[in-house]
Amino acid sequence: MKKKGNILIGVCGGIASYKICQLARLFLKEGYLLKVMMTPAAIEFIRPLVFKELTGQPVYLEMFSLSNQDAQHISLSEWADLAIIAPLSANTLSKVACGICDNLLTSVVCALSSQKPVLLAPAMNEGMWRNPLIQDNLFRLKEIKNYTILSPERGELACKSVGIGRMPEPGEIYKKAKALLKKI
Ligand SMILES: Cc1cc2nc3c(=O)[nH]c(=O)nc-3n(C[C@H](O)[C@H](O)[C@H](O)COP(=O)(O)O)c2cc1C
Repeated sequence: MKKKGNILIGVCGGIASYKICQLARLFLKEGYLLKVMMTPAAIEFIRPLVFKELTGQPVYLEMFSLSNQDAQHISLSEWADLAIIAPLSANTLSKVACGICDNLLTSVVCALSSQKPVLLAPAMNEGMWRNPLIQDNLFRLKEIKNYTILSPERGELACKSVGIGRMPEPGEIYKKAKALLKKI
């Protein structure tokens, strides 16, 4: 079978993380190879086992592991044709914008070649989204040539209020990712 592409999804600690199961299924149904990495906070929202079963691959969680032969932040960044960070939390958005590499996910993003597309799907409460520091950090990310930001939508948020901050539906993320892959 013709190789369709290696997709690396990074999941942060946010309510929208459950939607990544649907996103994973869309890629897998079309024959893409998929690996999932998670921040420590993401594990509080969704169990790694779900992604392990969906993808048939290990789920990447730890920066430091005695059972791994290689430096996983490098091998994962080399393996990926396209990286998607969804949901992208306010915390990880800010860390990525500042080049902070304090867990596996942030280290992989930092190690990715500038030739590889990175799709970022921020999702958060409207107050966090409108915070000038978050907007400043977002501005920095928009300056990076290989980064594409999928802006959050207006709608009902997990905190029950209505506002900007909802992660776009998995189908939208999938469509955008495929468009980016076509350009490679
Ligand atoms: C119930 C709950 C829901 C949360 N939802 C979000 C969210 O949607 N977006 C966000 O940026 N942070 C959210 N947070 C806060 C993050 O989980 C927290 O900032 C965490 O440190 C993010 O870590 P990470 O960026 O390493 O994944 C939520 C926290 C809780 C307790």
